[in-house]
Amino acid sequence: MGTADDVLRIRLTNVLHPDIADDVRAELHHWLIDQAKQLRDSRGSARAILGIRCAENDRAGRELLISGGFALARHERDLVLAVPDEPPAPALPPGLVLTPVDERYDELARLAHNEAYADSPTAVRPDRRTWPQHATGHPRFLPDLSCLVLAEADRSDNPVAAFLFALADGSTDTPTAVLHCLGTRAPWRRSGLATAMISQVLHRARSAGVRRLRLKVTDSNHSALALYRKLGFVESGQGFAVLMRQLTPEADEQP
Ligand SMILES: CC(C)(COP(=O)(O)OP(=O)(O)OC[C@H]1O[C@@H](n2cnc3c(N)ncnc32)[C@H](O)[C@@H]1OP(=O)(O)O)[C@@H](O)C(=O)NCCC(=O)NCCS
Repeated sequence: MGTADDVLRIRLTNVLHPDIADDVRAELHHWLIDQAKQLRDSRGSARAILGIRCAENDRAGRELLISGGFALARHERDLVLAVPDEPPAPALPPGLVLTPVDERYDELARLAHNEAYADSPTAVRPDRRTWPQHATGHPRFLPDLSCLVLAEADRSDNPVAAFLFALADGSTDTPTAVLHCLGTRAPWRRSGLATAMISQVLHRARSAGVRRLRLKVTDSNHSALALYRKLGFVESGQGFAVLMRQLTPEADEQP
């Protein structure tokens, strides 16, 4: 939940048994909407936007949401890659070096992150205060599987050309690392930096006994999808759709 431009943003979450009856599901849905309206009113907001995730194979759930005034905002793909026995060697153009994440570069990595994600409408761009919990201070941060690319002779005042921060995935029995955020600043794109960082992670993952890489990507992010497909990532089937609904007092009469 958060507020931006006087609009209260509420994320609805629920976990339903796959065999739940349609009428129970509908009742729960209406109850959640009522709770959201009460929250909006208690906060004194005139407008709220509800967001909800729906598993990509849950057609009935999506239809219920759409009939209740939600509209599809985007799909989040969940991609996985088995760590190969012999990962490709990381290769970088001259003048660039792969280096472990290092606290000396922490603020420069944050600036590089926010610059790389500047055009991404859904990305979080942390400030100095929230950066640690997004990256190196995250409770599941994997320093050995994270890296930076530094430009030796810099083309700007920030030598961090690219970054990759990985997290442990505690949700599966297969030892898995999540590529949590990964980006290349615009002047260095299409030079193989993201490919080199992922190759490096695959090598480290192999040595650390990690068997699989996983990541989430919005389906409108064509460059990232092209990168991951080229490297052999495939859909896990655990992606989801994000649906949104306006919650204004005028729309309260909707089902
Ligand atoms: C996606 C991103 C990380 C790619 O980084 P990069 O260092 O430019 O990637 P690479 O140079 O290793 O690209 C490897 C391959 O990916 C594909 N690719 C990368 N960018 C592409 C683009 N803009 N259009 C089409 N294909 C692209 C190509 O197949 C490319 O190989 P090629 O250059 O030989 O054709 C970069 O564009 C970026 O930082 N984007 C913003 C942040 C972001 O969206 N991160 C991913 C979040 S899930």
